[in-house]
Amino acid sequence: MVAWLVIALLLHQAPPAAARAAQQVTGVVGRAVSLGADIPLGFQVRDAIWRYQAPAEELVATYFRGSAETLYQSRFYGRSRLHGNLTLEISQVELGDSGIFSVLLVNTRGQTETRSLHLAIYEVVSQLTLRVFTSESSRSGSARACEVFLTCLAADGTNVTYSWGRTDDEVLSVDKHSLFEAGQVLWAKLDPSDGQVSYTCTAANAVSRDSVTTAPWHHCQRKPDAEDALYDYRNILLIVLPLSILLLAVAAIGLLLSRKHSGKQRMKSLSDVSEPDTDPV
Ligand SMILES: *[C@@H]1O[C@H](CO)[C@@H](O)[C@H](O)[C@H]1NC(C)=O
Ligand SMILES: *[C@@H]1O[C@H](CO)[C@@H](O)[C@H](O)[C@H]1NC(C)=O
Repeated sequence: MVAWLVIALLLHQAPPAAARAAQQVTGVVGRAVSLGADIPLGFQVRDAIWRYQAPAEELVATYFRGSAETLYQSRFYGRSRLHGNLTLEISQVELGDSGIFSVLLVNTRGQTETRSLHLAIYEVVSQLTLRVFTSESSRSGSARACEVFLTCLAADGTNVTYSWGRTDDEVLSVDKHSLFEAGQVLWAKLDPSDGQVSYTCTAANAVSRDSVTTAPWHHCQRKPDAEDALYDYRNILLIVLPLSILLLAVAAIGLLLSRKHSGKQRMKSLSDVSEPDTDPV
């Protein structure tokens, strides 16, 4: 009971957390993360209160006169642990744990210090795929320039940024390269001198990076056979467009028919009801 009063009082008089720049902490989905209290030198901690402040206000852990408590109703219930040095450890972190934490420290003389931490949780980047699309016309002659689209996509990972490089370490000149879709798609104009050049896509976030490399020139030389045709973006358009129009038409006709049908049925049932009773009296 006394402890609750103390908490209420301390929280009430706690200075705004913005008083000091928030410390940035990153975590990885499924792993544990440690939030340090960063106790000032010579500060004899008597009490400490760990709170989750945003997006929701929750009490996570307290430390009063030598005893730690973490069993508060918060999203961290059962996953939090308060160490003797007042480091708060949270296990099995989830993307939704991202937010702002604060710790209020009280020393033996009743002075307070507040620390604010910004926790950002990321999912590791993985399963990167790089695909090459060439156009029919640019593929016909091997002695000519060839235009390719390279697409790079990480199946897993949050806050992923994509970047590209050439294995010959040349910068991607703007006259022969363009980036689309926030760097996920690279357009490149190749000529026979680029025959040996590979392109590397790197996908990265704050906790991980992954990269994949391909030599696109050989896609320019292949004859458009059945397997290749699948990778041709023009062919994809030629198939997808008519197919989607057809599907739309079928759906529209189906809708019309079912409307008509249900309309007829409704009329039929109405006439059933209004038919005079022909039973003999
Ligand atoms: C606090 O204690 C924990 C557990 O003993 C340890 O892993 C961590 O590194 C310590 N942190 C600091 C800042 O001393
Ligand atoms: C990561 O992406 C999410 C969702 O798009 C966003 O809310 C968050 O601010 C991003 N985090 C960082 C550190 O960019």
